[in-house]
Formats: sequence, structure tokens, C-alpha cells
Amino acid sequence: MALSSISGFFVLFLSLFLLGRQVYSEPTQDKQALLDFISRTPHANRLQWNSSASACSWVGVECDANQSHVVILRLPGVGLMGQISPNTLGRLSQLRVLSLRSNRLSGEIPADFSQLKLLRNLYLQHNLFSGEFPASLTQLTRLVRLDLSFNNFTGKIPFSVNNLTHLSGLFLENNGFAGSLPSINPSGLVDFNVSNNNLNGSIPETLAKFPASSFSGNLNLCGGPLNACNPFFVSPALSPTSNVPIVGKRSKKLSTAAIIAIAVGAGIILFLLLLILVLCLRKRQRRPNAAKPPKSAPRSVVTEVGTSSSKDDVAGGVAEAERNKLVFFDGGAYNFDLEDLLRASAEVLGKGSVGTSYKAVLEEGTTVVVKRLKDVAVQKKEFEMQMELLGKIKHENAVPLRAFYYSKDEKLLVYDYMPAGSLSALLHGSRGSGRTPLDWDNRMKIALSAGRGLAHLHVSGKIVHGNIKASNILLRSDLGACIADFGLNPVFGGSTPPNRVAGYRAPEVVETRKVTFKSDVYSFGVLLLELLTGKAPNQASFGEEGIDLPRWVQSVVREEWTAEVFDVELTRYQNIEEEMVQLLQIAMACVSTVPDQRPDIQVVVRMMEDINRTETDDGLRQSSDDPSKGSDGQTPPTESRTPPDVATP
Ligand SMILES: *[C@@H]1O[C@H](CO)[C@@H](O)[C@H](O)[C@H]1NC(C)=O
Ligand SMILES: *[C@@H]1O[C@H](CO)[C@@H](O)[C@H](O)[C@H]1NC(C)=O
Ligand SMILES: *[C@@H]1O[C@H](CO)[C@@H](O)[C@H](O)[C@H]1NC(C)=O
Ligand SMILES: *[C@@H]1O[C@H](CO)[C@@H](O)[C@H](O)[C@H]1NC(C)=O
Ligand SMILES: *[C@@H]1O[C@H](CO)[C@@H](O)[C@H](O)[C@H]1NC(C)=O
Ligand SMILES: *[C@@H]1O[C@H](CO)[C@@H](O)[C@H](O)[C@H]1NC(C)=O
Repeated sequence: MALSSISGFFVLFLSLFLLGRQVYSEPTQDKQALLDFISRTPHANRLQWNSSASACSWVGVECDANQSHVVILRLPGVGLMGQISPNTLGRLSQLRVLSLRSNRLSGEIPADFSQLKLLRNLYLQHNLFSGEFPASLTQLTRLVRLDLSFNNFTGKIPFSVNNLTHLSGLFLENNGFAGSLPSINPSGLVDFNVSNNNLNGSIPETLAKFPASSFSGNLNLCGGPLNACNPFFVSPALSPTSNVPIVGKRSKKLSTAAIIAIAVGAGIILFLLLLILVLCLRKRQRRPNAAKPPKSAPRSVVTEVGTSSSKDDVAGGVAEAERNKLVFFDGGAYNFDLEDLLRASAEVLGKGSVGTSYKAVLEEGTTVVVKRLKDVAVQKKEFEMQMELLGKIKHENAVPLRAFYYSKDEKLLVYDYMPAGSLSALLHGSRGSGRTPLDWDNRMKIALSAGRGLAHLHVSGKIVHGNIKASNILLRSDLGACIADFGLNPVFGGSTPPNRVAGYRAPEVVETRKVTFKSDVYSFGVLLLELLTGKAPNQASFGEEGIDLPRWVQSVVREEWTAEVFDVELTRYQNIEEEMVQLLQIAMACVSTVPDQRPDIQVVVRMMEDINRTETDDGLRQSSDDPSKGSDGQTPPTESRTPPDVATP
């Protein structure tokens, strides 16, 4: 009895010992992770992992010396299909190498790949993976090789790739990556390929060292090893700095040659020597004028401004370049210089009466709007004074001016970029099918916030906007409005450029070409009418020739057809006629022909705020908020859609 119990104990002890050994020589947790992975991933049965044997003996699996963890997993071309399930491979915490290339894996890379903290090599090429660049991978800071090529990834290549400081190879070719290339700059990067994607914009300096075949087959990449980008503007400020020393050296060389000549001719009598010296001096005087622009000057500068800038700026060049810097206003979060701006990839946003606007994406990812002014009529001093005034305007409903640049040939303004676009695009873009109409509450919100921005300009800034129009009302993502492009008239000599969009101009401005606070109010009134009618003031579609939006509205209202003026898109909202009529009355006051009869903008704002107040009080706001709620039985059905004061002929 005692013996058997002892032997029983021994067996138990032995088996425990063996079990312990087995646990020790088998990566139990990793094995389970692998089994979970393989059971959830369809594959072509080539693997035959034997669950009774140690995972370290499986095809494609390698363990560390202790056999306690899987450190390498290579499963190339074994017919894996479908998505990688989360909570499988992500549990292989000690993994150094993972290769799943040449399978038919699809979907997104699981987020828990971010836990593979020790991963050095990741090969996922030649699969069907999709989605954005996997954010989980930018946390694997020990990665050395990352190959995502020949997949179906889309979206932008994130700037956070720079997190991977040990990267020596990055392969992203043959995917659907789009947008511009960030300046990826791991110091040890030796292999890089983004060919055959949909990238555009300029190749950042940091990547320019790679060959053209690293970038081929994209939408529109330029710079670096590819064709030079069309610079969207050309600054002469960059050329004089390089001009001066080189010109100086040339004339020095010449005089050295002359001295040698003199030395060789030592035997020649003093008279002849003097003669030669006189000749040399004359020659030297002529030289600087004949000097050509040096080869080292930036290409664009030489080709486009070469002659004008190299002539007169030679002496004052350095000082000039110092002075012509981008001037920032404080409070802005930006940190870039003119050269960054010149390198930015840019896209034309619009050509207006005062110049062309570009959306510029700087290498570090900042997006700004650069406005390139044409026909500036004032000198630098006056220009700077006006910009100082504009730079002080800080209001949530005004687009802040961040910086400006003035040189003889270029006048640039830098503004914040407003991604939601302009009121003009929102109101008139893609009318008809597939369009989400701009609802009444948002139109009111835009009117009110734009009014507040303008009132701030007039009252606090004492600045006339001078160019109120729907395309200068920019929107934030919450549809709050910001007024843009204000206060620029003074730099055009105080008068409005003649090619301004008609339709918003007050009658007196058409004659005098002088803008005032009252003419701003007129333009704002036209803007309100535009919001109410959905009609663009500058389109000549108001029946007779010479009839503008205010006159058209007046004629319709006079005939007692008030309901006819409102945008058909607004007819689907209920209980808003009262408000629409009130706003219409305000707008009509603003567009009075006589300037003195127009209310001040702060009065206009107060009247608009009053509309809102009565309307919130009567509790009907919810039903007019959302057209889809009209059918829930609580709100009265369609009858109230027909405005009460209609007298349709
Ligand atoms: C699985 O491994 C066990 C233990 O090593 C072995 O006895 C068995 O034959 C293996 N099965 C297959 C199908 O290879
Ligand atoms: C073996 O395992 C022990 C503890 O589990 C660990 O401290 C040691 O670093 C491991 N050795 C190797 C070579 O992995
Ligand atoms: C960069 O790496 C750190 C860890 O080193 C991580 O915390 C951070 O989230 C990473 N950033 C991005 C954008 O992935
Ligand atoms: C790649 O993605 C696009 C868009 O998501 C899809 O239309 C296309 O079928 C995908 N291609 C493959 C081979 O999965
Ligand atoms: C690059 O392409 C994107 C999307 O196709 C587009 O929005 C952007 O304007 C383009 N940028 C440039 C610089 O062409
Ligand atoms: C980049 O990838 C493309 C497509 O596979 C290839 O043709 C090209 O040679 C590669 N370039 C480099 C520099 O590896």
C-alpha cells in the first residue's frame, strides 16, 4: 500500500517534471496564437502543423534558444486567404521576422500588430491587403525592412513613417497610395520604392537621392530625379545672394591675370607698364556688366526672372534678400520659410480679380493658402502698413492673415486653409441630382456668422472689406462662416480693380470705384439674397438685360409674389416662412440704393440675432431642423409647406 502510494507519488512527480519540461521547451502561448491564426485563416493545406508536436518544429516557425517564444514566422506562398484575424499573430510578442508574402491575404492589417514591438522585418508584399497605410505599423519603431508592395493599400502615406527611425528599406510600390509624399527621412534608408501608385506633388528633398525608378508610374510626381516641378511662383529673392560672391570672384581672377601679365613683362619700360595698367582698369570696369547669371542659381529664377533681377540688384543683393523675408504675425503656429513655401506642392484654388490663390502643402504636412497678388499699386512701406492692420484682425469669423511677403516682383499673402470650401461652392455646386441641399438652419448660421465677422472688421478693425461675395465666405467644418480676402483695396491704390465680379457692387461703387462701410453692407445684403433665393448674383439670368439680383427680388416682391423668390430647395422645410420673410426684409434694407439708408452692419447682425430668438422660443425648431423628421407623425404634414402669403398667379 505504502509502496504503491510512493510509486504513485513518483509517477505523479515524474509526469509533473516531464510536463514542466515540456512547458519549458515549448512556446505554449505562442503555439496557441499560431493555432488560432491557422484555424481562422483558410489555406491550401500545405502547412500540416501537427498540434501534438512542438510548434518550434513546424514548417515556417523558428523559436529562440530556450524554445520559449516564436521569433521568426515565414509563410510565403502557402495559399493563405482572407483576413488576418485580430488577436492571433499580434500575440507573438517576441517576433522578430514575419513574412506572409505571396499569399492571397486581404482586408486590413489588424490593429494589434502594434504589439509586435520587437519586429524588425515585415514582408507582406504580393497580397490583396487594402485600407489605409496601417497605423499600427508606425509604432513598430524597430522595423528595419517594411515591404507592403503589390497590395491594394490606398490613402496617404503618413508623415509618421518617420517614427520608424531604424528603417533601411521601405517598399510601397504597386499600391493605390495617393496624395503627396511626406518628407520621409530615416537616416539609414537605402532602399525606397513608391512606383506605380497615385501619388502627386513634389518629391521632398529627403527622398530626392533615390533613382527615378523609385518614383515612376505615379499620377503626377515631380522634382528630385523626375522633371522639375512647375514652381507656382518664382521669387527673385533667392538669386541675388548667390550672384554677389561669384561676380566678385570673377573680377578678382581677371586682375590676377593682369598682374601676371605685368610680371612677365617686367623688362618692359615703365611707360608701357602704365599703359597696360590703364587698359586693365578699363577692362575691369566693363566686366561686371557682362557677367552672366551664374550656373548655380536656382533654375526657375534664372529662366524666369534672370534678366530683370541680376541687373540692378548686384550690389545690394544680400541686404535685399535679408529684407525680403516672409513676415509672420505673432500668434500663428507656423514655422516655415520662403524656401519651404517655394518647395511646397501647390494647386490652384482660384483665379480672382486680385490674383491667384494656391493651396500649398508644405513638406511637414502643413497646408496653407498662398495668395499671389497682381497689380499691387503701392510701395513697400504702405503695403507693410496695411498688412500690419490686417494681421491684427483676430476673430473666429474672419480668416486670419498669417504672413506676407513683398519684393519687387512678388507680393504674397499666407492664410489658413479652410478645407470645407466656400459658400459659393456649397450653394451653387452640383445643383440637381445627388446634391445635399443647404438647409435653412445652416443658411441662417452662415448669414449670422459672416455678419459677425464683418461687424468685427468694421467696428474693431476700422477696415472696409471691399470684396464681399459668396466665394469669399469660407466655411469651417461645423459650417460656421469666415470672411476672407478683406481689406486689400488699399494696396491696389484704394480703388477696386475694374474686373471685380459684378452683382455684389453697390451702385455708387460702380461709378466712384471707392468702397466704404456702406458699400460693404450693400454687398452683404446681396449675399443674404443669394442665401434666400439660391441664385448667384453674377449670373445674368434675371430675365431682362441689366437686372441684378436685388432689382429682381424687388420686382417680384412688389408684385406680391414673395414666395416665388425663395430657393426651391427651402420649400421642403417647414415653419420657416416667417424667418425667411424677416431675413428678406433685412436684406432689402441692406441693398438700398441710397447708402445712408442702409443700416450699419452691427445693426444688421442684431436684427438677424432677433430672428433667431423668437424662433427658438416657439419650440418649432426641431421640426424644421431635419426634413426627415417631418414624417414621424408629430409634425403637421405638408400643408404648412405652402407659404401663407402666396398669391401665385
Ligand atoms: C504528430 O506528432 C506526434 C508527436 O510527435 C506524432 O506521434 C504523430 O505521428 C504526428 N502526427 C502526424 C500526422 O505527423
Ligand atoms: C531563456 O529563458 C530565460 C527565462 O525564461 C531568459 O532569462 C533567458 O534570457 C532566455 N535565454 C534566451 C537565449 O532566450
Ligand atoms: C511613434 O512611436 C511611439 C512609440 O515609440 C508611439 O507611442 C507613437 O504612437 C507613434 N506615433 C505614431 C503616429 O504612430
Ligand atoms: C482594390 O481596391 C479597390 C477599391 O477599394 C477595389 O475596387 C479593387 O477591386 C481592389 N482590387 C483588388 C485586387 O482587390
Ligand atoms: C493630388 O491629388 C489629390 C487627390 O487626387 C488632389 O486633391 C490634390 O489636389 C493633388 N495635389 C496636387 C499638388 O496635384
Ligand atoms: C521600384 O519598383 C518598380 C516596380 O516593381 C521597379 O520596376 C523598379 O525598378 C523599382 N525601383 C527601384 C529603385 O528599386
